[in-house]
Amino acid sequence: MRVGVLTGGGDCPGLNAVIRAIVRKGVQEYGYDFTGFRDGWRGPLEGVTVPLSIPVVRGILPRGGTILGSSRTNPFDAEYAGQGVRRIRDSLATYGIDSLITIGGEDTLGVAATLSDEYGIPCVGVPKTIDNDLSGTDYTFGFDTAVGIATEAIDRLHTTAESHMRVLVVEVMGRHAGWIALHSGLAGGANVILIPEQRFDTDQVCEWVTSRFRASYAPIVVVAEGAAPATGGMILKDDSHDSFGHVRLSGVGEWLAKEIERRTGKEARTTVLGHVQRGGTPSAFDRWLATRFGLHAIDAVHEGVSGVMVALRGTDIVRVPISEATARLKTVDPALYAEAGVFFG
Ligand code: F6P
Repeated sequence: MRVGVLTGGGDCPGLNAVIRAIVRKGVQEYGYDFTGFRDGWRGPLEGVTVPLSIPVVRGILPRGGTILGSSRTNPFDAEYAGQGVRRIRDSLATYGIDSLITIGGEDTLGVAATLSDEYGIPCVGVPKTIDNDLSGTDYTFGFDTAVGIATEAIDRLHTTAESHMRVLVVEVMGRHAGWIALHSGLAGGANVILIPEQRFDTDQVCEWVTSRFRASYAPIVVVAEGAAPATGGMILKDDSHDSFGHVRLSGVGEWLAKEIERRTGKEARTTVLGHVQRGGTPSAFDRWLATRFGLHAIDAVHEGVSGVMVALRGTDIVRVPISEATARLKTVDPALYAEAGVFFG
C-alpha cells in the first residue's frame, strides 16, 4: 500500500505535525509506504514528488510551514486545458498511489471532493486554515496559533497606543470569516472589532473611538481584511486573482485609520499583521489537533474510505463528507454579534 500526501492553499502552522503523524502511524502500524507531492495539486499535476519516510519527518513537529511546499494550484484552471484530472490520475498510477491524503482548506479540499465523488480517485481530507472557516469541524489547526499571535500583537499595541493617546488599527487575516478578529479582539480587549460578516458603519466606529478617548483611554480597533464599510465594497490590495478566483485583500486597516483621523481629528496608525499570523511554530493546541487529525486520516485510509474529511466535534475526531465540509464556509454566527454586540461596527 502506498499513500500520497499533499498540502495545498495558504500554509498554516501544524501542517508538518499532520504529515509526521500520518507517516509515523502509517509506517509503524500499517507498514505503508509514502510519497509526498510537492506544492499542493501542482505535485500530482506535474509529477513532482518528495520522499516521505520516518527519518524525513523526524523533528518536524514544532516547525511551521510544510516540508511538502504549498500552492494555490487548481487542476480545473484553464491552464490545464481540461487535462487536470487525467494528469493527476496518470501521476497516481506512475507512483503507484492507492490513496491520497489532501491537507487543505476549502479550495484544496473542494478539488479532493470532486476527484473522489465524480472521478473515483480515493482521497481523504484533513482540514487546515488559520481562518477557521471550514464547515463540518469545530476548529481547524493553525487558527489557535494565529489567534495567539494576533492577541499578543494587540496586547503590545495597547501600551504604545496609551503612551501616545493614538488610535491603533490592527488588520488581521480573514477573507470571508471574522474568526481571527473576533477571538483575538475579545482576548486582547480591543474596543472595536470589525468582521466581514457584518458591514460596519464608519460613523459608529468613530463614535466608539471618541468615547474611548473621553474615558481617557486610547482605542484599539481590530479589523479583518475582508471587513467592509456599509457603503462601498471590500478593499482590495490589487486587481489580481488566484487560480480559484479569490481576490487579494489588505488595505482596509489603512483606509480606516485615515477615515478615523479625518472624522475625529485623532491621530491613528495601522498595523497589518499579514503573514506573521501564518508563520512560525504551531501552538500546543494546534500540534495536538494536527497530530490527532493525522492519526485519524491514516486510519480512514486503512479502512478504505474515500471522500471523507477528519473533523473535530467537541473532543472527538469524526469523519464528514468532504463535499459537505466544502459546500459553504463557516462564518461567524450572528448570535455572537448579539453576545458581544457593543464591539461590532
Ligand atoms: O489561507 C487563508 C489566508 O490566510 C487568508 O486569510 C488570506 O486572505 C490569504 O490566505 C492570503 O493568501 P496569500 O498568502 O496567498 O496572499
